[in-house]
Amino acid sequence: MQFADSVKQVTASAIRDVFEAASDDAINLGLGQPDFSSPEHVRTAAAEAVTAGDADAYTNNPGYRSLRAAIARRYRDDRGLRVDPDEIIATVGATEALYLALKTHVNPGEKVLVPDPGFLAYRQQINLIGATPVSVPRRGDQTVAPEQIAEAIDEDTAAFIINSPNNPTGAVQSRADMEAFAEIAAEEDVLCITDEVYEYFVFDGEHHSPYAFDTENVVLVSAASKTYSMTGWRLGWVIGAQDRIDQMVQVHQFIDTCATAASQHAAEAALSGPQAPVEEMVAAFERRRDIVLDGLDDMGIPYSQPGGAFYVFPEVPGGWVDAVLDADVVVVPGHAFGAHGEGHARISYVRGAEQLKEAIERMHAVTTSQFA
Ligand SMILES: Cc1ncc(COP(=O)(O)O)c(C=O)c1O
Repeated sequence: MQFADSVKQVTASAIRDVFEAASDDAINLGLGQPDFSSPEHVRTAAAEAVTAGDADAYTNNPGYRSLRAAIARRYRDDRGLRVDPDEIIATVGATEALYLALKTHVNPGEKVLVPDPGFLAYRQQINLIGATPVSVPRRGDQTVAPEQIAEAIDEDTAAFIINSPNNPTGAVQSRADMEAFAEIAAEEDVLCITDEVYEYFVFDGEHHSPYAFDTENVVLVSAASKTYSMTGWRLGWVIGAQDRIDQMVQVHQFIDTCATAASQHAAEAALSGPQAPVEEMVAAFERRRDIVLDGLDDMGIPYSQPGGAFYVFPEVPGGWVDAVLDADVVVVPGHAFGAHGEGHARISYVRGAEQLKEAIERMHAVTTSQFA
């Protein structure tokens, strides 16, 4: 059997191995999605659109204009960013948005800088388009230093990816960093792809975007997935300068024509309806983060303070992830997110306070009995 070389570069996720090894009673703190339901009004809007027959046909390629207007309004009202609905494409999750950005701007053989540790799809998508992912390690507080991005850029570099708040570390980049990333993109004529799917999950400080500083050399990727707990609806978007959007929409139309119509209705309801469910969910995540951090403090396990997303990425002793798995708690080994993640574990606090406390007790028992 013959397979394309680019596909042969794609490797199985180490996360899956951990999930497969877990028992049915395990508390799963390995997942990358909120454990909340999508807001009720979102479900209702989608159901009504389906019942009325408004979700039966292809939509236009970039997505309903009313959806794109709703996305633009949120950026204006919540972030003070001016985005034209014509500079937005509704995509099948942030995953497709990332792929469009990469496929449209990066040639086979070119390099793309990725944070290491980082979200695993970056490397795999870069491999899929026949380009080369290049790791950029993090500084001590788990953020990415603009200087390191600047140093890593050479004549073969087409793009670099920034992700704040971050998966897997929970780190939040500062405003100054974001401004510096935008400057580097402009000066080096390299595209900055900013993945902001956790933009509302910020507990310490504020979320900033390099797109606020430069709309020509920065492409912004986000989604309804995490903000509204809508991962299954598969609805994201990419925002960029008009010429970039015109090119990306060509790729988009031949990959999937348009995002699913029912999901577009659902996302429009999410973005233009009451935002209280988001605020409640983010407040719950902040409380949970504090429970987990207190637990890690009690265990004597070091971490850098995660300011956002719903992850913490502590430094753990060798064998700890497997020992914790034996005690029926699933966490993901740091190396799943890149070579520089070695010696860490990603803990997602995507369970309610009671389950989290139970998981911490189990981790505590393992840590004191086997790693003291
Ligand atoms: C940093 C990051 N970007 C993108 C995605 C994918 O988002 P979506 O479900 O909208 O495709 C994830 C999902 O875990 C993520 O963690």
